[in-house]
Amino acid sequence: MPDTITLEVARYRPGTDASPRVQEYEVPLREEWAVLDGLNYIKDRLDGTLSFRWSCRMGICGSCGMTVNGDPALTCGTFLADYAPGPVRVEPLANFPVVRDLVVQIDDFLRKLPTVKPWLVREDEPGVEDGEFRQTPAELAEYTQYSMCINCLLCYAACPVYGLEPDFLGPAAIALAQRYNLDSRDQGAHQRLDLLATAAGVWACTYVGECTTACPKGVDPAGAIQRYKLTAATRTLWSVLMPWGAR
Ligand code: SF4
Ligand code: FES
Repeated sequence: MPDTITLEVARYRPGTDASPRVQEYEVPLREEWAVLDGLNYIKDRLDGTLSFRWSCRMGICGSCGMTVNGDPALTCGTFLADYAPGPVRVEPLANFPVVRDLVVQIDDFLRKLPTVKPWLVREDEPGVEDGEFRQTPAELAEYTQYSMCINCLLCYAACPVYGLEPDFLGPAAIALAQRYNLDSRDQGAHQRLDLLATAAGVWACTYVGECTTACPKGVDPAGAIQRYKLTAATRTLWSVLMPWGAR
């Protein structure tokens, strides 16, 4: 294995640069170094003007997502040695406006996420004296997978529909809505229906499935969307056949 590897890093300052450019840096190639370690080496030793986001370095915070050799990836969990002898191209996540270099603007997701009410919605509010809400292991298993989402937005970068239709709620927002819809303690599924069962909701998805492939946490947003399509179709049918009883 060579001692160093070349990182081809996208540089861009909107408002100053006419277009993005690529800058090459030579960084040490160590077995245990992730792409993020290479970027931090550049920042600390070679070029302090490079901008990128990261926090936990352990696949938890979801802030270090970038495009690595064309694929959306968590740079703290993607290792340089897997790309040896290189070069490795590091670019910002696709489908988001660039703030600077590798930092993207995620306001669109932050605006959409709360609209699906990603929290437990209760119609009744039992007191503490009534005890906890109990769940069986099977009820827990219904939504556990979707609760693993870390909002890294790799699924949005991988999704061709989101790239073409910015109004699309998107994979993670829908998967997180399902996380609560499938929770036996939640009573808000009918409140989410008006938003999810729309042209900008689940019906925008053409089931390309790239979101599930890109997800580093084993969430299956594509599966969540297909499952919700069935729910939405069934509820719509019931609301037509039995308008007095549908919720
Ligand atoms: S579903 Fe997966 S890829 Fe999408 S934001 Fe959540 S953790 Fe990231
Ligand atoms: S730095 Fe937190 S997920 Fe990579």
